[in-house]
Amino acid sequence: MRPKPPPGTILGRLDDLPDPGARASAWEGRAVVLIRRGETVTAFINLCPHAGLPLCLPDGRGLLHKGETLVCPVHGASFDAASGECTGGPAAGDRLTAIPVEIVGAEVRAL
Ligand code: FES
Repeated sequence: MRPKPPPGTILGRLDDLPDPGARASAWEGRAVVLIRRGETVTAFINLCPHAGLPLCLPDGRGLLHKGETLVCPVHGASFDAASGECTGGPAAGDRLTAIPVEIVGAEVRAL
């Protein structure tokens, strides 16, 4: 289990995130994946509950399908971008670990 970022940790900047899109945060070696949809950002620990592998590609990109579903690049489990609930694939019945965040100016910070 990876640690959660302490409150106030800057996880990224809005203008560094694709919209819509997903990208690993630089914090703690890409330990968090950020998902942007307009002015809304959700964040999750960057580990798939299926096999405990990263949800992002080696270059940090996340696969966001139709702006709504984060797809694990390893075996294809899909997760709701808002709740982290698994919506299909081998992690059925599981969910991602959410990180509450706020947007302060252009920064995405952990709560
Ligand atoms: S590690 Fe993500 S679906 Fe298997």
